[in-house]
Amino acid sequence: MAVGVKTYRNCIGGEWRDAASGKTFESVSPATGEVLGEFPESGPAEVDQAAAAARDAYAGWRLVPAPKRAEALYRFAQLLVAHKQELAELMTQEMGKVLPEAGGDVQEAIDMTYYMAGEGRRLFGQTTPSELPDKFCLSVRQPIGVCGIITPWNFPIAIPSWKITAALICGNTVVFKPATDTPLLGTRFVELLAEAGLPAGVVNLVHGPGGAVGERLVQHPDVPVLSFTGSREVGTRVAEQAAPRLKHVHLELGGKNGIVVMDDADLDLALEGVVWSAFGTSGQRCTAASRVIVHERVYDAVATRLVAAVERLRLGNGLDPETDVGPVINRGALEKIHSYTEIGLAEGAKLLTGGEVATGGELAKGWYYRPTVFGGVEAGMRIAQEEIFGPTTVLIRVRDLDEAIRVANGIEYGLSSSIFTQDVNRAFRAIRDLEAGITYINAGTTGAEVHLPFGGTKATGNGHREAGQAALDFFTEWKAVYVDYSGRLQRAQIDNQ
Ligand code: UN1
Repeated sequence: MAVGVKTYRNCIGGEWRDAASGKTFESVSPATGEVLGEFPESGPAEVDQAAAAARDAYAGWRLVPAPKRAEALYRFAQLLVAHKQELAELMTQEMGKVLPEAGGDVQEAIDMTYYMAGEGRRLFGQTTPSELPDKFCLSVRQPIGVCGIITPWNFPIAIPSWKITAALICGNTVVFKPATDTPLLGTRFVELLAEAGLPAGVVNLVHGPGGAVGERLVQHPDVPVLSFTGSREVGTRVAEQAAPRLKHVHLELGGKNGIVVMDDADLDLALEGVVWSAFGTSGQRCTAASRVIVHERVYDAVATRLVAAVERLRLGNGLDPETDVGPVINRGALEKIHSYTEIGLAEGAKLLTGGEVATGGELAKGWYYRPTVFGGVEAGMRIAQEEIFGPTTVLIRVRDLDEAIRVANGIEYGLSSSIFTQDVNRAFRAIRDLEAGITYINAGTTGAEVHLPFGGTKATGNGHREAGQAALDFFTEWKAVYVDYSGRLQRAQIDNQ
């Protein structure tokens, strides 16, 4: 154990406990290499305990009136507000994104928590006439049970809030496995939930690897609901392993999001949008713009100006206010990102800038990659098809809107999309024809707000959405209720014919 490093625990049934194995893993800052804490390397036994605690707590929590459940969420939101700066600084240390973006991540959780708390006095169902006399029909949302929540490191406070606050307001309980790269933020999230007065066992925290902890959660017979954000490989496995028990599975699995820049676009705006969407969070967003699809008439101008803008970006520790782009999450990510530079070169794409690991001075302590732009990219190349999840974007030249939309859609994913144009007709065609869960007009591919549905088409997911009202559909089941006050047996479809 490193000297002076704090040890953290799981939270099961309201108690903070070590893993039975006694083994731990470290959280290491990608910016500096500093060890931020040690966390229990849990396994199936801890998942079983957490699932049992969540199942027990469910019996009581589902009966707490939703406006009362909301009170805990309002308090949680207020705590997030009070701790926003602390959490943001911790996030920049533990995950690497620059401080203003880390603040945005926490703000997203604040917004989501207030939104879901508000649902405590809504959670609307429907009332509708019956086809029979003296009979009343309605539908109500009902909680489902214990939800297994498996979250990624790239939005370490926001994404847990999307899933957990929605699950809770609907009356479910939770077993939460945060990413092993951001266990400290996962811990702070649960500590603040506990401080907000959530009853013991309603949210349980189990740290540990996807193999031992995640898989047990996915297969656990008492966990009927799973919400997972992460890689397509793991997401597919989650779906396969959950299938024999017919679990409810929500998957959010990334993208290869394209920005279309038309010849009539405001190029200053488009360039700002591209730089922000491609290099914000070092490109480590599911919504990052990893393709820029440019009309041939403005291609050269966009390429030249983009390279100049990217070369002005300052790489460094995100705590430094001068920094534009922070590190990537870990060595594996750095290697994967660089391997795609090599793939792009081998495919014949032109490296316009970047393409290397950055190591000078303080950067040598962390995992930094130079913001990278490829030009002359063909739509079918691997660098234009596969998710790189790093500060790399590619420029693809097209002749007209039809080709732009064909190229934009010519991928397996369908999360976010964008078009820069000043022509309203083109904008509405893009809204209709881009195959994606999100389309932006005259903005980049990032920046989703919490009250709209979030998620994607095709290989980005499995048809569900999170955030907004859509999240309630995943975390509840509908019950149709028929109340017959006629005092006689009335047969639907028969007695009224
Ligand atoms: C993600 O990358 O997984 O729209 C989430 C955005 C953010 C959320 C991104 N609000 O970019």
